Amino acid sequence: MPRLVVATEAQRRARDVLTASAWGRLLRPAQFLDREVTLRAHPFAVEAMRTWLWVEGDEVCCSCETFEVRARRGPVEGRAWLVASVFTEPRLRGRGFARSMLDALALTLTGPGALALALFSEVGAPLYERAGFVAQPTWDVVLPAETSVLPTDTWRTISAGPAFPPAGDGELELILSDAQCAWHVERERFYAKALGRPAPTGHLLVRGSSSLAAAASFQTNELHVLWYDFQDDGEAESMLREACAVAGACGLGAVRVWETTRFPVPSGGARRSRDDELPMVRPLDGGAARWTRIARGLWA
Ligand SMILES: CC(C)(COP(=O)(O)OP(=O)(O)OC[C@H]1O[C@@H](n2cnc3c(N)ncnc32)[C@H](O)[C@@H]1OP(=O)(O)O)[C@@H](O)C(=O)NCCC(=O)NCCS
Repeated sequence: MPRLVVATEAQRRARDVLTASAWGRLLRPAQFLDREVTLRAHPFAVEAMRTWLWVEGDEVCCSCETFEVRARRGPVEGRAWLVASVFTEPRLRGRGFARSMLDALALTLTGPGALALALFSEVGAPLYERAGFVAQPTWDVVLPAETSVLPTDTWRTISAGPAFPPAGDGELELILSDAQCAWHVERERFYAKALGRPAPTGHLLVRGSSSLAAAASFQTNELHVLWYDFQDDGEAESMLREACAVAGACGLGAVRVWETTRFPVPSGGARRSRDDELPMVRPLDGGAARWTRIARGLWA
């Protein structure tokens, strides 16, 4: 049976060379290696991230990363781990290594306050369902970029995550920090520089009692709303129009909003169920597999 070990920086770099085939799109191999080192050096990753290897003898059978975040279930405060970059080399696939590594991870990440493992699947639900994860119903609102109107507002630096009221009874909530949002902005900056693309000048928009944070995803050519807190339908509409203008000014094709609370979809937009980056959760506390308010900023 393989064993789970935390990777050293040298082992991480060796893994980067292999995972470039899965996640290096748009970048040259050297740029992908640079991306990984740059993002790992960001304060959010230094604090929250670990790379795990599923090792048998001298061979790495599978690997993944975890990002520890604050979490709560009702009044109980604790922590959860976002699992990312699950990777098995092509020659080792289909032997159950990913599933067994995730089981081992769930046994390892236990203890007081351990509430859940969560992930965003790029390969649908079946693999992760076999590892005890449950897919969450998820909706996106997608709006076309606006190229005929320039952005008018001043966007600021993200200084805090959203302050949502407590979630419903028994529901799991993962807390989005400003550090994790800043990690998205670092990622945006990296791609903007590597690809020679213009990036937004600020990432937080406040209008009246509402706010919205966003960062460019050059891989998908979209502006992603990391979180929003709309207190007023008119403010929601005008802020989303502004986000569309920012997307247009940066040459992005669309604005994508992961729905955390319902708001009226502005004309020209569409509300769609999401089948990629599918949020899934595996409770570690024996509670229900119900994860609520899954903001895009939590993606890792
Ligand atoms: C996905 C991945 C980690 C699975 O690793 P593995 O060790 O082969 O996984 P297991 O043997 O435990 O399970 C295999 C199952 O994974 C699922 N799976 C693997 N690749 C898949 C894909 N591209 N699309 C959908 N399902 C996939 C299938 O359900 C498969 O079961 P099957 O062989 O009966 O069809 C591996 O294929 C990989 O590294 N892919 C490239 C990176 C990636 O996409 N990672 C996932 C990010 S969320």
